[in-house]
Amino acid sequence: MIPPEAVRAVRDAPSVVVLTGAGVSAESGVPTFRDAARGLWAKYDPTRLATPEAFEADPELVSRWYDWRRERVAACAPNPGHHASAEMERWLTSMRRGFTLLTQNVDRLHHAAGSRAIVELHGSIWIWRCLGCGTEREDRSMPFAEYPPRCADCGGIRRPGVVWFGEALPHAALDAAERAMRGCGIFLSVGTSSLVYPAAGYARQAHARGIPTLEINAEPTPISPMVTWSIQGKSGEVLPELLRLAMEA
Ligand code: OAD
Repeated sequence: MIPPEAVRAVRDAPSVVVLTGAGVSAESGVPTFRDAARGLWAKYDPTRLATPEAFEADPELVSRWYDWRRERVAACAPNPGHHASAEMERWLTSMRRGFTLLTQNVDRLHHAAGSRAIVELHGSIWIWRCLGCGTEREDRSMPFAEYPPRCADCGGIRRPGVVWFGEALPHAALDAAERAMRGCGIFLSVGTSSLVYPAAGYARQAHARGIPTLEINAEPTPISPMVTWSIQGKSGEVLPELLRLAMEA
């Protein structure tokens, strides 16, 4: 049950900020971080592979792992939660309201669903950066010809353009998120365990500034007691329903 006040808050907000996490992609078949990795890679701990130290120690292993993740994601399609986010952006933008999607996800399924105002807080597995010349470009070729993949320009080793544990988030993403938060009239946190900062801090920032906050998650999280409304459910079901109600209200 979505509280009518939450529906009205989405309908009336001058600007909406939506933060998404792995739970939004889960219904597309992309495993969340806190799920155990299945199959070939089950024996590897993501928190140990997704680090600069792991890549330094074994760039072949880490780039093979990311190539496996890219192949997994390439087989996944956006789900109704992704489509509802894109539709909400189009609807609000058509009414000259603000909309920003902050995502922790690196799969670009939001892009595939048609979202445009996206801030990739943790980068993307489709972006690869050369450690030699710094060239950064989207690379959807699969599988890689060699591990680690090499730069076509300088022959340097390329790494995934994602934020690894222990690394700072891209300044441009942080700046864009802060700009979005300044004008925010309602903050939605969807499909995230709200454990990893700074992403997990935006809901607290909104709450501290008296901005209505709405959480949609399959299970309670540390922000559930704090937010204005906490809805326990699947993003692929609740987000489309929230959008339908807001558009009809
Ligand atoms: P998590 O795996 O930590 O949390 C996913 C959340 O989504 C969990 O709370 C699930 O209960 C919930 N969930 C699962 N299926 C859902 C569904 N269908 N609808 C709604 N909720 C659902 O993933 P994140 O919170 O995204 O950081 O993890 C945050 C960051 O931790 C990741 O971006 C990654 C990791 O360290 C980096 O890689 C830097």
